[in-house]
Amino acid sequence: MRLHLAILPWLPILIGEVHYVASQKLTTRVPIPPEQCVIAETWPAGPGQALVPQAPDAELRQILRSVDPKRIESIIQKLVSFGTRHTLSNQTDPVRGIGAARDWIASEMRSFARASNGRMTVTVPSYVQVPANRIPVNTVISDVVATLRGSTEPNRVYVISGHYDSRRTDVMDFVNDSPGANDDASGVATVMELARVMASHRPAATIVFAAVAGEEQGLFGSNFLAQTLVDSGVEVQGMLNNDIVGSSTADDGTRDPFVIRMFAQGVPSSETPAQVSTRLSIGGENDSPARQLGRFVHEVATNDATGMSIQMIYRQDRFLRSGDHVPFLQRGIAAVRFTEPHENFNHQHQDVRVENGTQFGDLIEFVDFDFIARVARVNGAGLWSLANAPGTPKNVTINTSALTNNSTLTWALDDHANGGYEVVYRNPHEPFWTHVVPVGRSNTASLKLSKDNVNWGVRAVGSNGYKSPATFPFPG
Ligand SMILES: *[C@@H]1O[C@H](CO)[C@@H](O)[C@H](O)[C@H]1NC(C)=O
Ligand SMILES: *[C@@H]1O[C@H](CO)[C@@H](O)[C@H](O)[C@H]1NC(C)=O
Ligand SMILES: *[C@@H]1O[C@H](CO)[C@@H](O)[C@H](O)[C@H]1NC(C)=O
Ligand SMILES: *[C@@H]1O[C@H](CO)[C@@H](O)[C@H](O)[C@H]1NC(C)=O
Ligand SMILES: *[C@@H]1O[C@H](CO)[C@@H](O)[C@H](O)[C@H]1NC(C)=O
Ligand SMILES: *[C@@H]1O[C@H](CO)[C@@H](O)[C@H](O)[C@H]1NC(C)=O
Ligand SMILES: [Zn+2]
Repeated sequence: MRLHLAILPWLPILIGEVHYVASQKLTTRVPIPPEQCVIAETWPAGPGQALVPQAPDAELRQILRSVDPKRIESIIQKLVSFGTRHTLSNQTDPVRGIGAARDWIASEMRSFARASNGRMTVTVPSYVQVPANRIPVNTVISDVVATLRGSTEPNRVYVISGHYDSRRTDVMDFVNDSPGANDDASGVATVMELARVMASHRPAATIVFAAVAGEEQGLFGSNFLAQTLVDSGVEVQGMLNNDIVGSSTADDGTRDPFVIRMFAQGVPSSETPAQVSTRLSIGGENDSPARQLGRFVHEVATNDATGMSIQMIYRQDRFLRSGDHVPFLQRGIAAVRFTEPHENFNHQHQDVRVENGTQFGDLIEFVDFDFIARVARVNGAGLWSLANAPGTPKNVTINTSALTNNSTLTWALDDHANGGYEVVYRNPHEPFWTHVVPVGRSNTASLKLSKDNVNWGVRAVGSNGYKSPATFPFPG
């Protein structure tokens, strides 16, 4: 069969129909018609079955149905009502400034926590940031953090964040109004609505719902949150940043209301030059923890329960921009950033004004609450699936001691992977896992498929059927 297909493009020559070839410009290659394409033959699918995406179960569907665009609207209205939420604005005034916003978010989170039977606790961790580039005087930076404690693995943590500070054209202007409806009340509303909905549920691992400050001044709140979590000894296995998730409308009016962009870094910024060198030498540049997290979210959140497509972008963030996932990436934690599919730069980082007939400013009239609800469902599907699957497999290695056509993988057995393990793989040029081989509750598998031609991953399966993100193997 393979031989037959490989010969097909040459048949005209072999059987003497030279006219066909001769009639082409000889300087260009004769195109091979798609039906004669031999890629499938040179890339044998091997021992795997086609990977069927994990589907949401009844509890997850109920969680996602409970996400309410009306509540998202009222959260954004309230956040806008503080006038400015600039990090340098007043921290004690009860109605205007970032302090009032902080206290309101904390009190809302506490009200959500009442449904949790004590499993959700709300704290406002803060520190004094000494003067820095966009911080002229000592400034208290406060995060608002609702922690929903995991029922079986409380030390394994997933974080979702949005930033509650806002800004104007002049990033140092903390006096005048900056509504920040999209940037980033939309992200904070996503976090708060999921905290409300999930408070009455029992994830296996811990979920941290965070509204952070100081983003516009230099990612200060997120940096503090990441460090605080690392110092507390928990293991953060994933972080979802929501920043500017409020609208699907481009500046030319184009709308993409069922698409969300997800930025996922390639080669990890946390790796040493030696680690990067090893990663590059084995073709692992597209298999960082952030990309595996991105693949996972794409798998569990692209479905009828979210109503969304996820555009995974192979980049840490947009050009000239950064965000609260970056301090997590710097600490070696898998993290991705969600942002609306088209940005309208007239409606972010701009003073509210009309200029030449155009309305500028980050006003609530430009955000779409149904869109934000769908983004929240994408996050909800990702978070819930992460927190109820076993953890991401550790110490995953591939045996490269000899030239064989097989691939032998080993990994550390996790007590919580009661449904065993799955080896996943894909043609290296595919973005997402395409094949899966269930291998049971074993810590090793030998697969009759050359490691030279596929990218491998190992994922853990829970007794509930939930599957973890995959881990890419390095030579043992
Ligand atoms: C903040 O607001 C409070 C209450 O309005 C006021 O007493 C205080 O002086 C303000 N602080 C600053 C630094 O402006
Ligand atoms: C408005 O028009 C003036 C005069 O043409 C121009 O200088 C200015 O840049 C315009 N503003 C914007 C935001 O386009
Ligand atoms: C790798 O495979 C070889 C056989 O090809 C075996 O001798 C060796 O022990 C294996 N290494 C590990 C670390 O399992
Ligand atoms: C590997 O497979 C190729 C064919 O795909 C075969 O020619 C070769 O002998 C195999 N090598 C070993 C060591 O099995
Ligand atoms: C992974 O390997 C390291 C280094 O050998 C070891 O310290 C660690 O305990 C292993 N982790 C697990 C989960 O087995
Ligand atoms: C390769 O895999 C086949 C089938 O699993 C097995 O029979 C064979 O011994 C393996 N060879 C090596 C070198 O691991
Ligand atoms: Zn932002």
